[in-house]
Amino acid sequence: MCGIVGVVGNDNTTKILLNGLEKLEYRGYDSAGIYVNNEKGKDFLVKEVGKISQLEKEVGPEVQGEMGIGHTRWATHGQPTVENAHPHYSQDNRFYLVHNGVLTNYAELKEKYLSDFKFVSQTDTEVAVQLVDYFATKENMDAEAAFRKALSLLEGSYAFAMVDKEQPDRIFVAKNKSPLLIGLGDGFNVICSDAMAMLESTHKFVEIHDGEVVILKKDNVSITTLDGKAVQRDPYTVNLDASDISKGTYANYMLKEIDEQPATMRKISSHYFDGKDIKVDQKMLKDVSEADRLYIVAAGTSYNAALVGKDIFENLADVPVDVELASEFGYHMPKLSQKPFFIFLSQSGETADSRQVLVRVNELGYHSLTMTNVPNSTLSREATYTMELLAGPEIAVASTKAYTANIAVEAVLAKAMGEYKGVQLAKDFDLQGQLSLAANAIQTIVDEKDRFEKIAHDYLAGKKDAFYIGRGIDYALSLEASLKLKEISYIHAEGFAAGELKHGTISLIEKGVPVFAYVNDGIGAAHTRGNIQEVEARGGHVLVISSKKYAQEGDQVVLPSIDEMISPIVSVVPAQLIAYYAALERGNDVDKPRNLAKSVTVE
Ligand code: F6R
Repeated sequence: MCGIVGVVGNDNTTKILLNGLEKLEYRGYDSAGIYVNNEKGKDFLVKEVGKISQLEKEVGPEVQGEMGIGHTRWATHGQPTVENAHPHYSQDNRFYLVHNGVLTNYAELKEKYLSDFKFVSQTDTEVAVQLVDYFATKENMDAEAAFRKALSLLEGSYAFAMVDKEQPDRIFVAKNKSPLLIGLGDGFNVICSDAMAMLESTHKFVEIHDGEVVILKKDNVSITTLDGKAVQRDPYTVNLDASDISKGTYANYMLKEIDEQPATMRKISSHYFDGKDIKVDQKMLKDVSEADRLYIVAAGTSYNAALVGKDIFENLADVPVDVELASEFGYHMPKLSQKPFFIFLSQSGETADSRQVLVRVNELGYHSLTMTNVPNSTLSREATYTMELLAGPEIAVASTKAYTANIAVEAVLAKAMGEYKGVQLAKDFDLQGQLSLAANAIQTIVDEKDRFEKIAHDYLAGKKDAFYIGRGIDYALSLEASLKLKEISYIHAEGFAAGELKHGTISLIEKGVPVFAYVNDGIGAAHTRGNIQEVEARGGHVLVISSKKYAQEGDQVVLPSIDEMISPIVSVVPAQLIAYYAALERGNDVDKPRNLAKSVTVE
């Protein structure tokens, strides 16, 4: 969701900006633009609706310079048009600014200060850049003072990068809630929303914290607080290779990431186990084990992984668990238990909805853990503890390997807690063995891609609606399976508790409606079979996906059995492939589905 790049002090600025924007494409966007300034006093602004490839076509050979800023926009205020695309500029064409976030008081500020300014867009961002200009021109402030003054008035979330045409040796940078990093190059410096955008230029990055102002020059980076106090911060190294984020021989990232799941399971196993012993931060283990209730907070696919985690923690660690939607929880916090502990699940580690809960949790003085795929992300930095998902960069917007990794890492923590607390289990649970079984089982599924391509065609071609049903662990799984299908194929899909269908939803079942029924949950299996009969009796086109243990003759997909508690690690894979092939058949952009963003940095 909105991506920012910036460069100062490099002759290849245009190339670095465009390349960086391409790397940020995965975040989701609808338009893009760059501003480039050169030593000869020339500058260029190019903006375009649609893909970066469109923008590239508009960038002529003359667009060269030593510094510049770039942006991918995911529309919030105003439609995706060239006028609304960033960079935005002040009415006198002196200041150019890109923004990620939402300014909540832009209308008031516009009315109070800018009634005689000429606006060309409908965006909140244009107010910010005009406001800087207002203080520079009407109150005679220098650019930095005007920038700081505007920041002191603006409310909401932002990452800003601003250029003053009169001082083209520097970029003015600030952030509040939205992510932004400094990258240290050799003789030049950069900024970016995500380190992945700049890995070809540097592996050395410096965090920017909320409420800080950065002046980025080619040979100097100054970080200060809004009230001017100097901040010293060491850089850290990002151990990713540019090749880690390439598609390799795959046509798109999603299929590559589905295929990477067995390797991720093995990586989690070898990282979190030392022989038979679980390796986790002992201070965290003590802290979380002393909680009387866990609150798992997340959004979307991560929320669905949390629903699976609830069972795992309650069983293995003997602790009650509440699973909460981040966007709701922050504003409707229930009465908390005496000793709560918060776990945030977030692939990106940047989700604004989750972050606003974490800010509140920190204010209340509670401890927290972020499970994330992105170390050094905002949620990782701001939580008390972090556990890494170790899935490797996930670029496709639809999350696949982060979901399965999340469940596995939840199981690692739950198992460690159970051992720490001396929880007596009814039957032994060998997590290492289970992760190895899961890796093998996923491999057998992804080796049969043709089969799922055919299922996607036979069940979903030309269909408008589809249902996933299941009980217990299969209900949690059905929510994720249906989310995958709707987000990339645009087929209206719902996940239902199988027993709940008859309380209303079954009225939607008619001849030919595709219903994917999961039977991996031992307790619910017999009843789910009954619900399948009810659906078939009304003409529903049912595909049964069962695990070997509960399979019956005639089941179309039979999966290798693993422990039910973590079975969604395996049973989600057919749904990922079905969604993938259904989307492909419809000609959709599988990796970048419409309207969606990978890193959802607005609330
Ligand atoms: C769906 C998907 C989203 C994210 C959600 C939360 O495939 O990826 O539903 O799960 O936006 O994002 P994270 O996990 O980054 O907090």
